[in-house]
Amino acid sequence: MEATNGSPQSKAGDWRNYERVLLPPVRDLHKLEVYKNEGGYDRLRKVLEEKAIEPGDVTNAVKESGLRGRGGAGFSTGMKWSFMPEPDDRPRYLACNADESEPGTFKDRQLMEYNPHLMFEGILIAGYAMSIDACYVYVRGEYADWIQHMEKELEKLYDQNLVGDNIMGTDFSMDIVIHKGAGAYICGEETSLLNSLEGKRGYPRYKPPFPAQVGAWSKPTTINNVETLACVPLIIEKGADWFANTGAEKHPGPVLYGISGHVNRPGVYEYPTGMLISDLIDEVCGGMRNGKKFKALVPGGSSTPPLRADQCDGVTMDAESLREAGSMMGTAGMLVLDEDTDMVSYLRRVTHFYSHESCGQCTPCREGTGWLENIVTRIDEGEGQMRDLDLLLDLCGQMEGRTICAFADAAAWPVQYTLKRFREEFEAKCKASVHPVSADVSSGTE
Ligand code: NAI
Repeated sequence: MEATNGSPQSKAGDWRNYERVLLPPVRDLHKLEVYKNEGGYDRLRKVLEEKAIEPGDVTNAVKESGLRGRGGAGFSTGMKWSFMPEPDDRPRYLACNADESEPGTFKDRQLMEYNPHLMFEGILIAGYAMSIDACYVYVRGEYADWIQHMEKELEKLYDQNLVGDNIMGTDFSMDIVIHKGAGAYICGEETSLLNSLEGKRGYPRYKPPFPAQVGAWSKPTTINNVETLACVPLIIEKGADWFANTGAEKHPGPVLYGISGHVNRPGVYEYPTGMLISDLIDEVCGGMRNGKKFKALVPGGSSTPPLRADQCDGVTMDAESLREAGSMMGTAGMLVLDEDTDMVSYLRRVTHFYSHESCGQCTPCREGTGWLENIVTRIDEGEGQMRDLDLLLDLCGQMEGRTICAFADAAAWPVQYTLKRFREEFEAKCKASVHPVSADVSSGTE
């Protein structure tokens, strides 16, 4: 890839010599003994025992670090914590969102497999900062092996007084409960997650009220992603400045890039934010598979708009740069597609996913996702008409912003942008359609 506007500028500094902190190369780090030998739970000790940091100062440090949620929305973590009301006699909850289900996203799984104690330590420090009584780790049920393993490690934490009553002999008490999801994508949406935890159907709730006001069992609750919480001990250990100065200025810190698709070495890679897309593909992942040409990138999970290769020139992986390029950082689950990819077939799979996973609570989403799938499928099967392209865009307009949660938007964006950016492929299929009127009916292009 070549930059079109001057030489490409990475914001990730000397990334080739970057030392991993979320997934450091330590054998058996998932075991408590090993984690402790590596300095694990010292950060918790620092805030609890030495009282070096007051709860409010932990929140301030997280704010100053610039940490933005790693679950997809990129909201300021420190600001979210500060929405929690002052402690009163009501119980307060934290939910660790480990229901990772966004297609193309598999980075929390790596953390839970290789460094689960970093997540647990982050949960405890966050719990101290917000005076939390209990944290529910709501984990994708399909991650069965890691769930079993984390349960074993959590038992050890209770045995060693690192979780439960009077942690480390201090007056801070907090429980951690691992809760298995049952395979519904929508339960990763924060308010569905709360309903599901309460034993109700996993339907999203209206916001406001936000969970900090009315959360689990109507009590003050904060929901943070696994990777977000795993960043917290690092901020305490290395300082807010270190975090703020790692990677892109407005979206800093280490981040796990989950890269899949047509590259030579797909995988989860830890680097600072602000990596050039070209460096990630060409150097980190060893280039495109079979020497094929790079065609498109879905930068942050299936709901983020795909970018054509030419739109990725000089673009870095952070919220600001991706927004300017016409997409979003999302979960940094990057799907790299080569020149042989049929974008209509790609979109057919995506629409099938959203149609299957719509919870059905809101009519525009329940009906709309099914129609999107039907229309894209008929185009893909050579039975589409040119007017179907406008019909798709019209449908997206009827869905976007008209539902309780962001699911309908997430289903509409890939359709709008795949169609807009790869329209010629859709038109070619419609023109070659077996449908007798398709060649005669031409809709205008944008
Ligand atoms: P959102 O932008 O509505 O909210 C983000 C967070 O900020 C939420 O916790 C919300 O409560 C809080 N927030 C926002 N405005 C607030 C306010 N005024 N007051 C108090 N709190 C406020 O986004 P949402 O719906 O939570 O997440 C959507 C994202 O999730 C998408 O970008 C998508 O990429 C991602 N996603 C990730 C998945 C995964 O597997 N990791 C699965 C599905 C979606």
